[in-house]
Amino acid sequence: MSLIARFALGAALLATFTALPAAQFAAETYHDANCMRCHDTGVYTREDRAVGSYQMLESRVAACDARFGEELPADGLPALIDYLNTNYYKFEK
Ligand code: HEC
Repeated sequence: MSLIARFALGAALLATFTALPAAQFAAETYHDANCMRCHDTGVYTREDRAVGSYQMLESRVAACDARFGEELPADGLPALIDYLNTNYYKFEK
């Protein structure tokens, strides 16, 4: 295979992988299986909830997720944060 063809193939493969939507990670399934052990979704909507901004949501989800050490795929954490934000917190990013 010529160098050019190789390069084109490589670029095409790369484009395929990077084009995968972040939503590939099943945030809802992951959440329901892993995040309801200690609390239910009520903590996201209660009046005195602790999280008050998108940044706080990011660090809270990361901290909670770290508690049980399951391997999230690379796009998992942002997808999980977006899932909670879309469904419960609705912060401006
Ligand atoms: C080992 C127990 C545990 C697990 C598992 C856990 N959490 Fe938590 N989480 C907590 C505790 C404790 C709090 C604080 C609850 C309180 O203040 O009453 C909390 C609070 C939160 C809050 C803040 C709620 C608020 O007040 O706004 C978010 C968001 C959250 N968790 C997300 C998650 C997500 C997402 C997962 C799954 C990746 C998860 N948690 C898994 C223990 C856990």
